[in-house]
Amino acid sequence: MNRRRFLGAGLASLGAACTLPAVRTAPAPPRVALADVRRLVVERADPIAGRCRYVADLGARQVPQPILLARRGESFDGVIENALPQPTTVHFHGLTLPEAEDGAGFDPIAPGERKRVRFEVKNRSGLYWFHPHPHGFTAEQVYAGLTGLLVVTDEDDDALDAALALAPGNRLALAVADARVGGGALRPYAPSAEDCLHGWLGNRALVNGQLDTRWSVSPGWVRLQILNACNARGLLVAFREGETLVPFHLLGTDGGLLAAPRELERMFLYTGERVDIAIDLRGRRALAAVSLEFDPRHHTRGAAPRHRHPARERYAPLAAETVCESASGGAAEGRLEDGAELALFALRVDGTPMRTPSLPSRLSVLPEPGAQPETPTRRMRLDFDEGAGFLIDQTPYRADETAFSVSRGTREVWEIRNSPISMPHPMHLHGFGFRVLRRRGTYGDARRLATEPDGRLATDLGVKDTVVLWPNETVWLAVDFTLPQEAAFRGAQRFMFHCHNLEHEDGMMMRNFSVI
Ligand code: C2O
Ligand code: CU
Ligand code: CU
Repeated sequence: MNRRRFLGAGLASLGAACTLPAVRTAPAPPRVALADVRRLVVERADPIAGRCRYVADLGARQVPQPILLARRGESFDGVIENALPQPTTVHFHGLTLPEAEDGAGFDPIAPGERKRVRFEVKNRSGLYWFHPHPHGFTAEQVYAGLTGLLVVTDEDDDALDAALALAPGNRLALAVADARVGGGALRPYAPSAEDCLHGWLGNRALVNGQLDTRWSVSPGWVRLQILNACNARGLLVAFREGETLVPFHLLGTDGGLLAAPRELERMFLYTGERVDIAIDLRGRRALAAVSLEFDPRHHTRGAAPRHRHPARERYAPLAAETVCESASGGAAEGRLEDGAELALFALRVDGTPMRTPSLPSRLSVLPEPGAQPETPTRRMRLDFDEGAGFLIDQTPYRADETAFSVSRGTREVWEIRNSPISMPHPMHLHGFGFRVLRRRGTYGDARRLATEPDGRLATDLGVKDTVVLWPNETVWLAVDFTLPQEAAFRGAQRFMFHCHNLEHEDGMMMRNFSVI
């Protein structure tokens, strides 16, 4: 989108803010088979506002910002081309990939360079995603628009769609981000020191890159796969018709379907996390998806120390003048506090009502955790220090350091503790899905949603790759470090464990580990 059209879109929606916006159906992003992509180009969409985009080159066609589709077992074999003025990588968040293909930032693609990437999708059906991961530039590039969705399907997924008897258009994959909109325009990334402490927060939701999105759906079931693609904002997702909260059914989490659906009225969705849900639209006319107000527990005060990743020194920011330097100043326009209510998107139900089939009681067979919280293999602690910044085990990130090694094929229990004077940290593990075994010390708003054994929330029940820890909380995770037998996975493989608040990530809240 060029700058003029972007401005126009912003103004039109601001002008309509007090009344119901005119019915406008968001264009569905183009869907492309992962296996057909020959080249994935990472480029600037608009040099002025610093917007960027992915373009999938299919040989005969170029498709900007596609949703990629893959069947479990299908492969990608293509070239990633970096047309940005900064180094980048493409990290496939949630997939089990060897170090060389994971795009974790050990080996960034320099401006103007390309890299051949080949892998097979081994994961269960679910919503996965891809985004830049070059150390020190991740937050800026993701905010600039570099977020892509990858929908993986398999037989469980087919069976579910068939059971729901989904009408065409009633299955959507949505990347929900927040953007700063001020003066009718999207503000470029220019975080102050305070933004680098709490994270860069916007005041308007962007869904698949668009403001004020609304979809027309048919009566019956609607299935939504939702990613929190915000840099830092936690979402407490709910659906409203008028003043009433409309119940929905949780079907799956980051790494695919649950064993059985759960009926909910609200759920936390932190950055990097995904959910798969179904809503019964019988008797409904219009639904508004919102993030409800909650206490986000940002207990940390002070300022984050300035972290200039050494890699940044040679490159200018995409749009902003400075990153993490000004005290708070100019860029604060358009900052809405974390935990404030935020409208996300709308669904409008059109068509003749029909019967909704009942939900299947079994959705999938979940991999067993195979480990107990009583016997943690490792303990980790999350801290903040005014001098040293965000820390995992008292250590800021060092690209050349391997924090620990894990033997392949073993099952470990990780006990992770967030300090009391802290903030929520959505912690992400590369390469391996895990199961949440237990939570302890969970705070008010989240504690009320802890309906499951061992203090867990319904959203903890599936396979996860990202899990939020509120201040003072301890979680126990079971991770199965089995890697595929193929040649690509031979030898020591490095992976990362890090906070997915992207300002914390760029602020060095990461560790490398190795599977040997
Ligand atoms: Cu979604 Cu290491 O990232
Ligand atoms: Cu990842
Ligand atoms: Cu964090």
